[in-house]
Amino acid sequence: MQRLSQTISDLFPTGKGLLAADESTGSVGKRLTPIKVESTPENRRRFRELFLSAPGAEQYMSGVILVDETLRQSSSDGVPFAKVLADRGIVPGIKVDGGSKPLPGFPDEEVTEGLDGLAARLQEYASLGARFAKWRAVIRIGKGIPTSVCIETNALQLALYAGRCQEAGIVPMVEPEVLLDGAHTIADAERVTTDVLKTLIATLETHRVDLAGTIVKTSMVVPGKESGTLATPEQIAEATTRCLRSAIPKGVGGVVFLSGGQTSEQATLNLNAIAKLGPFEWPLTFCYARALQYPATDLWAGKDENLATARAAFIERLKANAAASTGNFS
Ligand code: 13P
Repeated sequence: MQRLSQTISDLFPTGKGLLAADESTGSVGKRLTPIKVESTPENRRRFRELFLSAPGAEQYMSGVILVDETLRQSSSDGVPFAKVLADRGIVPGIKVDGGSKPLPGFPDEEVTEGLDGLAARLQEYASLGARFAKWRAVIRIGKGIPTSVCIETNALQLALYAGRCQEAGIVPMVEPEVLLDGAHTIADAERVTTDVLKTLIATLETHRVDLAGTIVKTSMVVPGKESGTLATPEQIAEATTRCLRSAIPKGVGGVVFLSGGQTSEQATLNLNAIAKLGPFEWPLTFCYARALQYPATDLWAGKDENLATARAAFIERLKANAAASTGNFS
C-alpha cells in the first residue's frame, strides 16, 4: 500500500499532468500514415521518442502511459524508455487491456478483454519499471444504449484488473471512456457518465479495491460530435464537476481526463474552466494523447531535422495544460 500511495503522490504534484502515449500499433499507424511515415517498429520507436525524450517535459509531465512495445524499446542512445522517464522523475505506466470486442447479444456495445494471464504480465511490467497500469472500457451513447449490461460488465472487468494491479504493487488507472461520437446532448452525456462512474465505484468497492490507490480516467461531459450543439467551457465545466462530485467519493487517488477527440485548444480551455470550479476532494489533471501530440506529430513529419520544432510545440501544449490544471491558463 505504501508503494501505491508513493506512486499516487509522484503522479499528482500540483501543476503537472500525464501523457497517454499508449495508442495501439494500429492507432499509431493512423497517426503515421498522414505524415507519410511507414508504421514499422523503428518508426514507432522514433515517434515515441519525439515525446518521451523531449527536454524540459519533466517540468509539466508527471507520468506517461506506454504500450508493451515501447516499454521494451530504448532511446536512440540505447537507454530503455522507462529509464529515460524515471531518471527525470516521470512515472512510467503501461496499458494492459487487450482492446474492446463486441458484447455478444448487444449490438453496438463492447466489452474490454485482457484478464487472461494478466497477473504474470503485471509482474513482468513492474520489473521493467511500470508503476501504474491503464485499462480502457468503451461506452457508446445512442438509441437505447448504453445498456446496464454493458456498463456493469465493463465495471466488473475493470474491478478485476484493478485488484490484480494492486496485488502487484501497481496503481490501476480505470478508464470507462464515454465516447464523444453520437448525436447526444450534454445532458445525456452527464446522465450516462454519472451512471457509469457510480457503477464503477460501487463495483470497485464490492471487489475491495483500494480507492486511495486507484486513478479514475474519465471523459469530460460534452455534447456528442453529431449533436449539432456546442457548449462553452463554462457549461462543460459545470456539467463535468457536477458529475464528478456526485460520482467520485473523497479519497480516490486521483482523477484524470482523456481528450477524446476534442481539439488541443478545447481540451485546454475546458480543463481550465473545470479547474476554476475547484478545489475537489481528489487531485485532478489531464492525461491526454491526441490533444498533446498535435500539432507536434505533423511538424515532425518523420524527419530528424524537425525534431526541435516539433518538441517545442509539444512542450507548448504541456505547458498550457499544466497551467490549465490549476485554472491558471490564459
Ligand atoms: P485521447 O486524449 O486522445 O482521447 O487519448 C487518451 C486515452 O488514453 C484514451 O484512451
